[in-house]
Amino acid sequence: MAQLLPARPYVGTRDFYPEDMRLRNWYFNKIRKFAASFCYEEVQGPLLESFDLFAAKSGEELVKEQVYHFYDKGNRHLAIRPEMTPTVARMVAGRLNDLRVPIRWFSIANFMRYERPQKGRLREFYQLNVDILGVEGTRADIEVIDFIISLLNDFGADSSMFRVKISNRRLFNDVINDILKVDTDAMIISKAIDKKAKISPEKYTAWLKESGLSDERIGELDEIMSMGFKELKKILPADSRGAEELSQLFDDAEKLGLSQYLEFDLAVVRGLEYYTGTVFEVYDLSPENKRALFGGGRYDNLIGLFKKEAMTGIGFGMGDVIFQDFLQTHGLIPEGVGAEEKLLVAVFPEVPYAEYLKLSKEWRAVGLRCAVYAGASSRIKKQIQFAEKENYRYLIIMGGDEFANGTVTVKDLQNSEQWLWERKTAVQNLIKK
Ligand code: HAM
Repeated sequence: MAQLLPARPYVGTRDFYPEDMRLRNWYFNKIRKFAASFCYEEVQGPLLESFDLFAAKSGEELVKEQVYHFYDKGNRHLAIRPEMTPTVARMVAGRLNDLRVPIRWFSIANFMRYERPQKGRLREFYQLNVDILGVEGTRADIEVIDFIISLLNDFGADSSMFRVKISNRRLFNDVINDILKVDTDAMIISKAIDKKAKISPEKYTAWLKESGLSDERIGELDEIMSMGFKELKKILPADSRGAEELSQLFDDAEKLGLSQYLEFDLAVVRGLEYYTGTVFEVYDLSPENKRALFGGGRYDNLIGLFKKEAMTGIGFGMGDVIFQDFLQTHGLIPEGVGAEEKLLVAVFPEVPYAEYLKLSKEWRAVGLRCAVYAGASSRIKKQIQFAEKENYRYLIIMGGDEFANGTVTVKDLQNSEQWLWERKTAVQNLIKK
């Protein structure tokens, strides 16, 4: 006998059964509506991209360890998208002359990364991506931060539940090059800092040493990492552009009443290489969800991969796995999500089956959800059991007599009521109820 195939999906991927889809559709649709309220337009890109698109700027970890890649029959080196930002940059570059700035785009798409599956992280996940391109200065930065906080508020989350941790890559470079006066590329040091929470203190120190930092410099860096923004600003060069950008952002946030959601954290450096200015991550304040909910930042040079012209952008990605964990942890999923009322047409052998199909069309025509019972048994008890188990609210009964008289009985399975109505007016009668 041939060996049976496993019914499980590939490790780190999920099947979405009806109840999973109901939940997912509920919050995806809510997010879509929210993004539209900020005048962001929905876009979509392909699942496969050239490997080079990610190799260029996404950073070593993503490209060397996490990208699923292969050669197609035409020997093209392709990757299953691990993230959206390079695709967004490519799409903008493709229409650079036609698009009016600021470009406000969002998308909800699936991605694959070869990661160790763990709480909040899988191999296939969905991400909401929101990006605004073509705005210099920090106006777009505060818009994106406001977007994130307002989106979480829209789901009922408040400042007791999450924090937006913010820093700035330019400011980080100033710390390394101007305060610590280390020659090493700040990017190399930032990699150790990015991983600090996930590795042992010994490994972290060894990594910094390998990156060219002496024990003394490591001590100084630790001290700086524990400083608040105001304290750090005092020792930064007066012309630090990163510090200026961050000050502006914190000022704007205060005016918008968002300060209680924000926290300066120099340890937020982001693993992706293309960020150049503001960088941020959103964390659940509940210890149950340790990984970042959102991650994003400003990228100044991505369009430059495709065109001579430069265009700056800022945006973020938010993953569905941890977002769902967040909503669940804080009790933000309303009861009965997505379970809209459905009607089931019961069938009897004395009436031709096609008549039931016709009847179901009458109910569907006004936008109601209606299906005809298609099981083998015509026993009414079985049909009621089926309707109850499958969460149908109403059963429409049209036996031989009703069919002959032009009537139907509508049975409310939730409240154990029923009504005998003229078939012609039944739909309107139920809608009025
Ligand atoms: P990222 O930090 O790699 O950024 O991912 C952003 C978010 O996607 C994470 O905070 C997390 O919620 C989710 N995520 C990432 N990897 C996984 C995974 N393996 N399983 C589940 N969820 C995951 C980016 O991807 C940037 N491209 C975001 C961006 C947009 N920057 C500017 N615009």
